[in-house]
Amino acid sequence: MPILLSSQHPHRSPVSLAWLHQAAEALLIITGRDEAELSLLLVNDAQMRELNRHYRGKDKSTNVLSFPQIGGDDPTGGYLLGDIVISLDTAVREAAEKGITAHSHCRTLLIHGLVHLLGLDHERSEEEYRLMLAQEDFLAQELKNTERRNGMINLAINVDHVATLRQARGGKEPDPVTAAGICELAGAGGIVVHLREDRRHIQDRDVRLLRELVKTKLNLEMGANEEIIKIALALKPDMITLVPEKRQELTTEGGLDVAGQKGKLKKVVAKFEKAGIPVSLFIDPAPVQVAAAREVGATFVEIHTGRYADATSDEIADREFELIAAAAESAYETDLRVNAGHGLNYLNTPRIAELGMIEELSIGHAVMTRAIFVGLDQAVREMLALL
Ligand code: PXP
Repeated sequence: MPILLSSQHPHRSPVSLAWLHQAAEALLIITGRDEAELSLLLVNDAQMRELNRHYRGKDKSTNVLSFPQIGGDDPTGGYLLGDIVISLDTAVREAAEKGITAHSHCRTLLIHGLVHLLGLDHERSEEEYRLMLAQEDFLAQELKNTERRNGMINLAINVDHVATLRQARGGKEPDPVTAAGICELAGAGGIVVHLREDRRHIQDRDVRLLRELVKTKLNLEMGANEEIIKIALALKPDMITLVPEKRQELTTEGGLDVAGQKGKLKKVVAKFEKAGIPVSLFIDPAPVQVAAAREVGATFVEIHTGRYADATSDEIADREFELIAAAAESAYETDLRVNAGHGLNYLNTPRIAELGMIEELSIGHAVMTRAIFVGLDQAVREMLALL
């Protein structure tokens, strides 16, 4: 089932190409055309206008055009469905007007284009128009179901804040280990803790007990310093996430500068990978950091969503989201596994969760603050429902 996906748009696509590819593949399976070949081309408005003028005599751009393959049979025995062309400029503009994400709108355009290739045409008759709408609704629903089945994002809960509350009084309550158990029972797919050099929240006793208790996946966040590396190698968490760590900061502030310390990180990553512990690098959504993460041999990157989460306007949030989407895309394309986190809450998470190539979200503060009012079990379930 080859999908030939290419972008002639002169700028970087605001829509993940890997996600679009997956969506197209899923649609061919849903429509029973899994053996067919489909070409998908992304262009800008000027290129779309030229195609529309040349093939349809309409001198203007449009959002999507379909070109069915006449005959369909390919000499090699396959079946050629034809071409779908999407103008990313129009798609992004329309998405903004509708108040939906470019991904969601591109999904609609892809489905519309495919239904045309399958032979329906809303311009032929009222009846065909209605049939086409029904078919598009059906495919949109089925595609969402498939994405849910195949790509449900894992939710890893960071329980550091429970430890912060405990340390405020220096006693035993609340216990982050108990919190981790509740999170798992509520459906979380992993537990994250940051064992800081200054031990301001999570303690050595916590990580030892969590290693025993956590049934899903224990992700140990840590700075790359000798003492913590020793502890982590002995503890054997399911994975570690290397973060920059400064004593004065309130929380992890920026991503790790992997590009600026490739030599050192290469050695640290190799040490953990040799011990069978996969390494994730917490990085800003910047191409140079993605490339460096690949170079030093990490298995995962965790893309820092903090600037997106803290955006003070929709425009800034859109810009930051595009950087995250592009970083996730390029990481995924180079075979890095992709996680994301920091500052995610009940409002800003769904948009990130829509990025098909992200495997796991690491969320702490929003869930714990909600837990104070609705209980931890419910706070986790509500976040899971958003994914
Ligand atoms: N990912 C990393 C690497 C972090 O350092 C943190 C904060 O501890 C998180 C995710 C979770 O961030 P938040 O608590 O804002 O959800």
